[in-house]
Amino acid sequence: MAGKGNENVTYVDKSGKRLDGRKVDELRPIKVDVGVLDRADGSAYVEWGHNKAIAAVYGPREVLPKHMANPYKAIMRVYYRMAPFSVPEHKRPAPGRREIEISKVLSEALDAAVLTERFPQSQIEVHIDILDADAGTRITALTAASAALADAGIPMRDLVAGVSVGKAGGRVIADLTKAEEDASDAVDIPMAILPSTKEVVLLQMDGILTKEEWKDAHELAHKAAEKVYNLQKEALRKRYESAEAVEETEEIAETKEEVVE
Ligand code: CDP
Repeated sequence: MAGKGNENVTYVDKSGKRLDGRKVDELRPIKVDVGVLDRADGSAYVEWGHNKAIAAVYGPREVLPKHMANPYKAIMRVYYRMAPFSVPEHKRPAPGRREIEISKVLSEALDAAVLTERFPQSQIEVHIDILDADAGTRITALTAASAALADAGIPMRDLVAGVSVGKAGGRVIADLTKAEEDASDAVDIPMAILPSTKEVVLLQMDGILTKEEWKDAHELAHKAAEKVYNLQKEALRKRYESAEAVEETEEIAETKEEVVE
């Protein structure tokens, strides 16, 4: 929620630096790891600044209750949850209105990416737990979720990549922290795209921008999404290159055993 903060804070100083030293278009450090859970069909862990999210994918599998099934496509069931210890004021464990809303928008974004028509009568479950939160968690969650879907081998048009852009202290900036989201003039715009077609699959807005500011914010978002996309692809590549290496080693070991026998 934007716009509750201190009017005396300088959100972008004269040299163009923000509270944490970043430039206006600079993202926080982002780390993407895939295949982090043994029990799930696909998984990913993302650290984005102080945000930490873990995603687990199951399916496609049978829809229960059965009457919820769609005869033409798989249904995406997305559960975004914040751990009670992820925020300064210990959160109640039961999912609140905000988590239900975020699960819905994430489900719509992922539905646009997954080739759901290939799996009628089935469901694909995506569980995302936020372990630590510092604004931008829905995008951190989406980054993890789409990498986890790819890790599960689920056919997709593309990965989903995004960022939150907006405004603090009168300047258009990319990737707002909680301190920036709390600026009195803050605007927060989480946005996600399918990078190969630039199709926008998530766009929300909290606050007001001029047309010019929106143009700048939109451009920042596309550039940032491209960076996030590259990190996701790199993590998937790393995972499958190392998986191939393990398979090759196992094959060599098996051949050696056969020779010995
Ligand atoms: O996380 P995101 O920016 O996608 O969603 P938000 O609803 O705009 O929440 C912004 C931030 O507020 C979260 O990332 C948390 O850091 C914080 N928050 C909190 O401190 N306590 C909550 N119960 C919910 C959110």
